Amino acid sequence: MNPKILVTGGAGYIGSHVVRQLGEAGYDVVVYDNCSTGHASAVLYGELIVGDLADVDRLYRVFATHKLTAVLHFAASLIAPESVSNPLDYYANNTRNTLNLIRCCDAFGVDKIIFSSTAAVYGEPAHNPVTEQTPTLPINPYGRSKLMSEWLIQDTSRASNLRHVILRYFNVAGADPGGRIGQMNLEATHLIRAACDAALSRKPGVRIFGTDFSTPDGTGIRDYIHVEDLASAHLAALRYLEAGNDSQVLNCGYGQGYSVRHVIDRVKAISGVDFSVVETDRRPGDPACVTACADRIRQVLNWQPQYNDLDTIVRTSLFWEIRRDNQTLKHPLIQQLAQRLRHAPVVAQVKPIPVKGQHVQSPAIARL
Ligand SMILES: NC(=O)c1ccc[n+]([C@@H]2O[C@H](COP(=O)([O-])OP(=O)(O)OC[C@H]3O[C@@H](n4cnc5c(N)ncnc54)[C@H](O)[C@@H]3O)[C@@H](O)[C@H]2O)c1
Repeated sequence: MNPKILVTGGAGYIGSHVVRQLGEAGYDVVVYDNCSTGHASAVLYGELIVGDLADVDRLYRVFATHKLTAVLHFAASLIAPESVSNPLDYYANNTRNTLNLIRCCDAFGVDKIIFSSTAAVYGEPAHNPVTEQTPTLPINPYGRSKLMSEWLIQDTSRASNLRHVILRYFNVAGADPGGRIGQMNLEATHLIRAACDAALSRKPGVRIFGTDFSTPDGTGIRDYIHVEDLASAHLAALRYLEAGNDSQVLNCGYGQGYSVRHVIDRVKAISGVDFSVVETDRRPGDPACVTACADRIRQVLNWQPQYNDLDTIVRTSLFWEIRRDNQTLKHPLIQQLAQRLRHAPVVAQVKPIPVKGQHVQSPAIARL
């Protein structure tokens, strides 16, 4: 019998990429997601149970029904400014619901968990690159709710058979190179998403928050990791725990950063669209630079990223954004972009897979 893996938040952006890779690797997958920001159509493998982690009875029944061997826990709320105005919802969804999940793991003897944590637990780091030993000093309820979840998992591991890999993600971007799934949450505000929206005329332009940082071009520097590599890190972490290894906390990034201005320039160059850019003041709490020291994840998990290239991240993001909304394919600008992207090797090399549910492959999409 194949190992059966529970993926909370598997209908979301990152979770759906991991579910796809788990399915391709032959794992049986059960996705538990309330579809608050996730979409059923993003779940390309396994069974989707639409449920909330706050519904303890339902969660308990899922554990009782399925013989689970491991849990991958993505489900969360993750908009940092929203967490400042609405902290209780963040502690409830991120910390209390993690407690619900760990209680079920404990009750049913599920002894392996991989947890989606974040560079936000480091707050405004004084030095770069950030190592796993850098002090954790989160500056908002989102970061604190995630750090509390880390503690909850670590303390339970100390007191039981539970073993964990906590992955602290840096800036996640890009999309499935086959264009089947990507960021579907229209509320997402990440830079590459915003720049793609501007290139596709969905937004009037992009804003740069702060041009007076102590960086070479004055704009903030971040470590962008392709979602496909992040997903493969989860599979490596799962195999690591399956092999009986000890718990770990690992940074997930490439160990190199790009400035906001540079990212925008690449989106303009790759899309061929010179969209408008407005420079505004810094946002409170935005550090000048945050990059990961990613040595440990490579050593411990033997993780070998395949998409460590900003242009590939931008190209797959743009490709997804075009495919996401079939209507926009009729737009002349989209047709031009499709012509440009058709020659992108990362797109061409991927074979389509059979797709479940509402995920429709239109002739226009297939042409890309
Ligand atoms: N996207 C990033 O750049 C980033 C960076 C660092 C860490 N993370 C972490 O990665 C994880 C996944 O993020 P994402 O970008 O895929 O976000 P997402 O919003 O696309 O995915 C979260 C998923 O969890 C589901 N969900 C939320 N609350 C739930 C609940 N109570 N019960 C059941 N399902 C629930 C949502 O419907 C959604 O499908 C989060 O834990 C987040 O903190 C993300």
